Amino acid sequence: MTKTLSLQAPAIFRGPLSALPATLEWVGGADGVLRILDQTQLPLRIEIRDCRTVEDTWEAIRMLRVRGAPAIGVAAAYGLCLGTRPFRAVPADAFLAKVREVGAYLRTCRPTAVNLAWALQRVTEAAEQCTRTGGNTWEAMLLAAHALAVEDAETCRLIGEAGAHLVPEGGGVLTHCNAGALATVAYGTALALLYIAHQRGLRFHVFVDETRPLLQGARLTAFELTTAGLDVTLLCDGAAASLLQSGRVQLVVVGADRIAANGDTANKIGTYGVALAARRHDIPFYVAAPLSTFDRALASGAGIPIEERGADEIRRVLDQPVAPPTVQCYNPAFDVTPAELITGIVTQRGIATPVTAEQIARLFR
Ligand code: MRU
Repeated sequence: MTKTLSLQAPAIFRGPLSALPATLEWVGGADGVLRILDQTQLPLRIEIRDCRTVEDTWEAIRMLRVRGAPAIGVAAAYGLCLGTRPFRAVPADAFLAKVREVGAYLRTCRPTAVNLAWALQRVTEAAEQCTRTGGNTWEAMLLAAHALAVEDAETCRLIGEAGAHLVPEGGGVLTHCNAGALATVAYGTALALLYIAHQRGLRFHVFVDETRPLLQGARLTAFELTTAGLDVTLLCDGAAASLLQSGRVQLVVVGADRIAANGDTANKIGTYGVALAARRHDIPFYVAAPLSTFDRALASGAGIPIEERGADEIRRVLDQPVAPPTVQCYNPAFDVTPAELITGIVTQRGIATPVTAEQIARLFR
């Protein structure tokens, strides 16, 4: 009885969005499920969805029901537990082979956010360690996934604490896509700075790019910031450069899906253009991300795999056709902003600035 209870997901303080269902959480103990808030339905419907199998989890990540680099990582960690649960009783070697097979399958659902592979590796290492030291391997994996969830919430809060002073009192902040509580277990990365500054009583205005094609800015960021009581203006992506030219923005802050050893940063498509415009108008451009988003095996952003998504995401908006049904489309989900355009990278261990390989290496020491 006590053992089963210890496998229950730990309570996590979710800060500014505690009033909404969790972005993702494990519900139950050893026989539990991964419960997600289905982000494809937001902001029109608050729908939760239970992933009971690894295939459910793969589909939820692939379809962006759960999305954002850190949330993808934690969801995949739980997906690995779901996919290996039916094999708990098989001998250790066969079980570890299954762990690797299910992990390889989960790695195929989205290629760019490195947090996915990082989280799968953490849970796999917990399994390998447990088979060496003895104990229940599958339970050790579930506990490792719980630890990742707790760690993500705390890491994001620390990112917010590390960067809140960058938020301009009485000024404007621009963000792109959704790097908020909906992209993590709690707080977010880029939006954590804003939540912590808001908690500290600062007054400022947040401008949100709608973020075509899937509208994460309009549907998710505008939704979560207004829910948390921040002052928000939504704009079309094409209006970002002229907004930066207008003098109403003193800080740009975005999240990241993968950061190379030199600081080149992959984030939602359109981020690079915002960084170029920010540089042209001398506006600081910050990236906020946990250390798990760095891929130090890549010397530069040239090696970051960029996810290409289907043409219908562009040809259709909210399921309505908006273009000739057979027109060819260019739909990379991410772009890479060169380190030289980034003023600093805010992490749970402080800020790397200027953005150089040396400053980044310092964060890992
Ligand atoms: O395709 P998405 O919605 O998963 O893209 C998300 C982003 O690009 C976020 O900015 C990034 O993952 C950082 S989330 C804290």
